[in-house]
Amino acid sequence: MTAGQAGGPELPVDLDRFGVDITRPHPARRYDYLLGGKDNFAADRASADELAATFPHIRTAALENRRFLIRAVRWLARAGVRQFLDVGTGYPTAPNVHEAARAIAADSRVLYVDNDPVVVAHARALLTSPEPDAIGYLRADLRDPAAILDSPQARATLDFEQPIGLLLVAVLHFLDDVDDPYAVVTASSNGYQPAASSSCPTSRSTRCPRTRPATSPPSPGQVPGTERSAPGPATRSHSSSAAWT
Ligand SMILES: C[S@@+](CC[C@H](N)C(=O)[O-])C[C@H]1O[C@@H](n2cnc3c(N)ncnc32)[C@H](O)[C@@H]1O
Repeated sequence: MTAGQAGGPELPVDLDRFGVDITRPHPARRYDYLLGGKDNFAADRASADELAATFPHIRTAALENRRFLIRAVRWLARAGVRQFLDVGTGYPTAPNVHEAARAIAADSRVLYVDNDPVVVAHARALLTSPEPDAIGYLRADLRDPAAILDSPQARATLDFEQPIGLLLVAVLHFLDDVDDPYAVVTASSNGYQPAASSSCPTSRSTRCPRTRPATSPPSPGQVPGTERSAPGPATRSHSSSAAWT
């Protein structure tokens, strides 16, 4: 089966080859739906609609989150940052990180990282650059920063002697406390000069009661696709989220 056959993504991504189960909601595709994108399936839309019923502002939050990301990239680019490490990239949308950065500095370089194989396949197909390695793609897990920083893709795209803008936007809420997200963020900045770290957990426990606290197991009535194996969002308090910013 290809993504196009299922009425979602238009690229001929071979979902069977990637082992993608379109009957289960996925965070990247659910977010794409919330942003008004086409790279999503019925299970993603149903899960997003269910979240929206509980959390009516979620579409606005998704759009504002994306605007925040682009503002952060522009701010860094205007400050002279020419390299970005974007972990938890999500599906291509408009504008993408490299487009926002390159509108300010044409020589900007970006490594896109996501643990979802379909996201990475779409990024590779759509987020292109005439210069070899100026835009890189890597399928890797945020919870293994060394696998990202030591990868041939990172070494080809990024100059670790120069500042790098580390973008961890709307992704840290997919980490549980057992993943030690604070250590993950620290390790993700190791071995180079981080220009800035932008982390924006979108799930706050006071606003989204049907997602689960980061320290608790999934609850029986949980919105489908927010269970850990998906993985889904974990909520954190404002004070613990503030520790990242
Ligand atoms: C809500 S989207 C955010 C996309 C983009 N950063 C933004 O803010 O517009 C979260 C993305 O993080 C990815 N993701 C979730 N857990 C991850 C992990 N452990 N390692 C890498 N990527 C992850 C998902 O596949 C999805 O594409």
